[in-house]
Amino acid sequence: MKKDKILVIGACGQIGVELTLALRKMYGDNNVVASDLREEHDLLKGTGPYVSLDVMNKEMLHVLVIRHNITQVYLLAAILSATGEKNPLLAWHINMQSLLNVLDIAKEEGLDKIYWPSSIAVFGPSSPKVDTPQHTTIEPTTIYGISKFAGERWCEYYNHRYGIDVRSLRYPGLISYKSAPGGGTTDYAVEIYHEALEEGTYKCFLSEDTYLPMMYMHDAIRATIELMEAPGEKISVRSAYNLSGMSFSPKEISAAIQQHIPDFTISYEPDYRQEIANSWPQSIDDSQASKDWGWKPQYDLAKMTEDMLKNLKKQKGIK
Ligand SMILES: NC(=O)c1ccc[n+]([C@@H]2O[C@H](COP(=O)([O-])OP(=O)(O)OC[C@H]3O[C@@H](n4cnc5c(N)ncnc54)[C@H](O)[C@@H]3O)[C@@H](O)[C@H]2O)c1
Repeated sequence: MKKDKILVIGACGQIGVELTLALRKMYGDNNVVASDLREEHDLLKGTGPYVSLDVMNKEMLHVLVIRHNITQVYLLAAILSATGEKNPLLAWHINMQSLLNVLDIAKEEGLDKIYWPSSIAVFGPSSPKVDTPQHTTIEPTTIYGISKFAGERWCEYYNHRYGIDVRSLRYPGLISYKSAPGGGTTDYAVEIYHEALEEGTYKCFLSEDTYLPMMYMHDAIRATIELMEAPGEKISVRSAYNLSGMSFSPKEISAAIQQHIPDFTISYEPDYRQEIANSWPQSIDDSQASKDWGWKPQYDLAKMTEDMLKNLKKQKGIK
């Protein structure tokens, strides 16, 4: 039997750290090679092999895949929405070329499976805002969304044309306490917990009634692994699946925090990220993912808030 050997690219990011640790538990520490441009994240140190890699260097990536007998790649390296708006050409270049490098090596080396995340940012102002369906008008207005939508088309193309088993999820905004977010429009929903504990107050860069689709990292990691473990015949979507956890506004998350920290206060000073948020859906219909591979979220706002505050307190040494 061929042994699974996994390469995680962008392993030191918000998702990468937790996904790498989860994959190591499942596949064995030495069978999951973590890689990133950055220095190894503290939480990964001593847990398995780590290599320094620029995914834009296709030759280096190719050598790594051959040298480590890689059979599956999780590509998480990307420029996120808020950072992307500051440098659109760079975001386009990195988000596209990294994916094309991985897909092409998958074809050349006959890799078993590829995972590449898309985002709810593929939807634009002309998509339905509430319970946005899997298949609908998709006209993104951010460069991040444009690159994710193009990436989805490439994934489907490589699947149909070359039979590459590539799978993808349209993640909502992800909330976690282990590793910091990397420049997205939903980062406020992580920052707010840190500031609530450290300062008792938070200045939010989105307005109070901006509803966005969100998900706790535990659910996102579980969704990723469940999708990747599902039998191939269950995967009917080869672009990217809609995925939903919860939907809330800054006002609602602040009320959830006040349940634990009654004196917590919030103020609002919307910046350029408000426009990005306004272009996105408020909630997502993920019934296709439920139907195909049984997806079901476990965390709502209250449960997530309790868990975030408990773990951040521990991390920060707050009683
Ligand atoms: N975090 C979210 O809320 C969210 C939501 C939707 C989709 N996504 C998608 O999930 C994926 C991972 O997101 P994340 O939040 O972990 O991002 P992140 O910015 O926290 O992490 C990305 C990692 O990739 C690394 N990287 C960047 N350029 C690289 C290169 N050239 N070579 C190798 N590594 C490189 C960075 O150093 C970083 O550690 C991205 O594709 C992102 O678009 C994330």
